[in-house]
Amino acid sequence: MRVSTLAAIVLSGSFSVAQTCSPEYGQCGGLIWTGATCCVAGTVCQYQNAYYYQCLVSTAATTSSTITTSTTTTTTTTKPTTTSTTTTTTSKPTTTTTTTTKPTTTTITTTSPTTTTTTKSTTPTTTTTTSPTTTTTTTKSTTTTTTTTTAATATATSTGTAPYTWSNVEIGGGGFVSGISFSPIQQNLIYSRTDIGGCYRWDSTTGLWVQLLNWVSAANWSDIGVDSLAPDPVNVNRVYILVGTYTNSWSTTNGKVFRSDDQGATWDVQTSLSFKVGGNMPGRGMGERLAIDPNNNNIVYLGARSGNGLWKSTNAGVSFSQVTQFPVVGSYLEVAGSAYQGDKVGIVWTIFDSTTGSSGTGSSTIYVGAAENTTSSIYISKDSGTTWAALAGQPIGFLPIRAKLNNKILYVTYSNDCGPYVGTLGDVWKYNTTSAVWTLISPVASTTSGAYFGYGGLGIDAQNPDTIMVAAVNSWWPDGQIYRSLNGGSTWSALWEWTSYPSMSYRSTWDTSVLPWANLGAAAAPPVPAYGVGWMMQSLEIDPFNSNKFLYGTGLSMYGSTNLLNWDNPNTTFTLKSFVIGQEETAVIDLAAPPSGVLLYSALGDVCGFAHTSLTTVPSTVMTQPVFTSGSSVDYGGSAPAYVARAGSATTNHIGFSTSSGSSWFQASSEPSGAASGQVAVSANGLTTLWAPGGTATGVYYTTTFGSSWTQSGTLPTGSYIASDRVNATVFYAFSSGTAYYSTNSGQTFTASVTNLPTTTSSNRPLKAVPGAAGHVWLSTGTNLYKSTDGANTFTALGVQAVAVGFGVKASSGTYPAAVYISGTIGTQAGLYRSDDGGNTWVRINDDTHQYGSTNFAIDGDKNVYGRVFVGTNGLGVVYGTAD
Ligand SMILES: *[C@@H]1O[C@H](CO)[C@@H](O)[C@H](O)[C@H]1NC(C)=O
Ligand SMILES: *[C@@H]1O[C@H](CO)[C@@H](O)[C@H](O)[C@H]1NC(C)=O
Ligand SMILES: *[C@@H]1O[C@H](CO)[C@@H](O)[C@H](O)[C@H]1NC(C)=O
Ligand SMILES: *[C@@H]1O[C@H](CO)[C@@H](O)[C@H](O)[C@H]1NC(C)=O
Ligand SMILES: *[C@@H]1O[C@H](CO)[C@@H](O)[C@H](O)[C@H]1NC(C)=O
Repeated sequence: MRVSTLAAIVLSGSFSVAQTCSPEYGQCGGLIWTGATCCVAGTVCQYQNAYYYQCLVSTAATTSSTITTSTTTTTTTTKPTTTSTTTTTTSKPTTTTTTTTKPTTTTITTTSPTTTTTTKSTTPTTTTTTSPTTTTTTTKSTTTTTTTTTAATATATSTGTAPYTWSNVEIGGGGFVSGISFSPIQQNLIYSRTDIGGCYRWDSTTGLWVQLLNWVSAANWSDIGVDSLAPDPVNVNRVYILVGTYTNSWSTTNGKVFRSDDQGATWDVQTSLSFKVGGNMPGRGMGERLAIDPNNNNIVYLGARSGNGLWKSTNAGVSFSQVTQFPVVGSYLEVAGSAYQGDKVGIVWTIFDSTTGSSGTGSSTIYVGAAENTTSSIYISKDSGTTWAALAGQPIGFLPIRAKLNNKILYVTYSNDCGPYVGTLGDVWKYNTTSAVWTLISPVASTTSGAYFGYGGLGIDAQNPDTIMVAAVNSWWPDGQIYRSLNGGSTWSALWEWTSYPSMSYRSTWDTSVLPWANLGAAAAPPVPAYGVGWMMQSLEIDPFNSNKFLYGTGLSMYGSTNLLNWDNPNTTFTLKSFVIGQEETAVIDLAAPPSGVLLYSALGDVCGFAHTSLTTVPSTVMTQPVFTSGSSVDYGGSAPAYVARAGSATTNHIGFSTSSGSSWFQASSEPSGAASGQVAVSANGLTTLWAPGGTATGVYYTTTFGSSWTQSGTLPTGSYIASDRVNATVFYAFSSGTAYYSTNSGQTFTASVTNLPTTTSSNRPLKAVPGAAGHVWLSTGTNLYKSTDGANTFTALGVQAVAVGFGVKASSGTYPAAVYISGTIGTQAGLYRSDDGGNTWVRINDDTHQYGSTNFAIDGDKNVYGRVFVGTNGLGVVYGTAD
């Protein structure tokens, strides 16, 4: 993922300590930026993207400045060095903004065994719980009914399973691809890994990536974060992964090593480690932490985080023991004291020199990289790992992000931060292991005036060892950058160069047809292109069997080319396109399946969300006007489904409406003070929208003017969960801190009804009304499932541990107005279940190979196709099941 789904978005201006202001073109804000947030006189801090605010001259003066371009590309600085420039930003006010986002969905629920779901987070400030502490109840009803819940008379039972087929709703990607691994011994055997979305194998016959961890259970959700992946260099069928999502308290289980002997179809060895693994922690694009000795594939090295050092297995991953002689632990960390950024990044890569051993005996020379920025970071053993020494003469100060050994030359990319978001300076070095000579070969050296990025992704052409490529981490503006050298780094050519500002000349042309929405709704704003080369590029690989093919991971997608050699001919360009299809890494925040118009609306972390008109083709665009950095909620009118509202986080507009089933949108002309993200509910007739915003807003609001004006809904508590009756346009429901509410006057006021419900919930939308059934509303609390058929006056507990609930069209034989779908546990079996009789009996509809980790955020049923259900996952995208 490129950004925390639900991270508090700390924009420029939130740090007020006295500091030196950033220079023109310097960074002045963005996610995780901790440097200066002010700009030198004559420039102002301008939004470029969520991660990058830049000091630019504030006037609209359009004097174009000619940029000096050097034809010899070595050490060409890639930013304008002259002054007056066009400011092309459109969305960011020049005043600094502090948004302390606290979406109601920022949940780390730890209450229920099946709901230990940590939403992907990159900052420590997001560990809020769902229950607001405010407990004001409403007023103004003359007949305040307080009814206790009816205890379940019987515990629900599961009457077996129903055969289902499961697939992903095609989105085509959307998250951070942290590692790409080509098998060194078989062409077209390619794997990739992600931070919260499992790992994939390339299917060369379909051209699609196949997820290898859909089977992971909710209880083991942390295993879906993959911190390293290593194809065996001897046994073509064997592959290892290092799994675990967080090394802090957000993961409650230790890390594991999984080994497959059938290319990831099944994982026959699952080794628990004595420490945690951080697939979504800082430095996750470094690597690879797992390495297999090509001279003895029973030997597996593992670089741990958190000060746990270097580990080794001599039995092909069945057990590991620490290499106690290894001298350092990789003690670099991004921000001391931070819950998320304050952990030691650890030992990040191991490389065997295959020429120093023979088959079966193991390699004697081994290189290991550690996250150390004040002492030596690269160590060598010449006795198969018994003794270790720092490589003499090595550069000290930057972190070794990636390394490769080819033809006795060790190449290393360095950056001043472990990434993937941060990286503002770095170098590329090569080390001749024969002569023990280090040579600086940076395309843009860190000492160059104006240098502004580190290096990450490192590719070497196995067929032409002097051909190497490196990726900048991070060239946020105006575009990502990649360099290619044909002579071992003596000279480089850049993917793009300035011509006459704001024009740039690219070696590539885009084929955007594969992932057309990858512009995130943005038009080109020269020099910033609509479709960018990418960011967070810590993995870049040239196909070892095909010099024409390369792939690299970004924060949003995997891109690459199959005619890369055109780069080397000045008369031709190569085609850059997404290769991400099948890697459905998104965190799903909300889903709504209307009865007509489109099949589904999704609100997604990091990529706004989509109006899905097909389940099998990639959407053409994210929902725009407004575009959200993360979507938080979407809803439609129960009997007027063309009316849709959605909310999300963004710098300016946080709510949008459609009256045309999402084919076009408009943003509200006003918003309640401080409102952002949160939850929306659209009245059955589509004319009233209720908004329980996050942000700093207090209270819940309704509009009957599509956002021209807002009125507070009585004293309904801030952060309440809300729902609209699907039939009766004047009726809304709410739930907060164990109390249920209803409104019979279109949300003007709410009446507290049942007050002794559980206070915690695990879904983003725990309260859901039933289509076609006035007065029917259900509540999934994570501990029990509650049902009301009298407009939330009373609730009955059904004796089912449900973490999310949704409704679809009823079975022809169904005895309840809707098919009910839950994610929950019946007996001891966690899974996805359906009931056709209003919750008396259930059938399990998923199976052990389709568990998808956490499925508690959002579920909705198809309103036309009986049995079809859409399920939101936290990293594995939107999946849907169809009854066979
Ligand atoms: C969790 O994973 C471990 C091993 O990795 C396995 O033994 C256990 O059965 C799994 N638990 C569930 C509920 O799937
Ligand atoms: C090492 O990294 C830490 C944390 O980012 C930073 O504060 C420190 O300045 C770095 N040291 C060097 C020598 O770069
Ligand atoms: C590495 O050093 C050896 C010994 O000096 C030399 O023969 C070789 O050409 C060097 N390799 C490269 C690529 O410079
Ligand atoms: C590029 O085009 C020029 C002019 O037509 C030609 O002279 C040159 O040989 C071409 N270069 C390559 C590598 O094809
Ligand atoms: C809608 O609900 C209100 C309030 O409970 C009720 O007075 C009204 O009769 C309902 N309308 C319909 C059509 O059921």
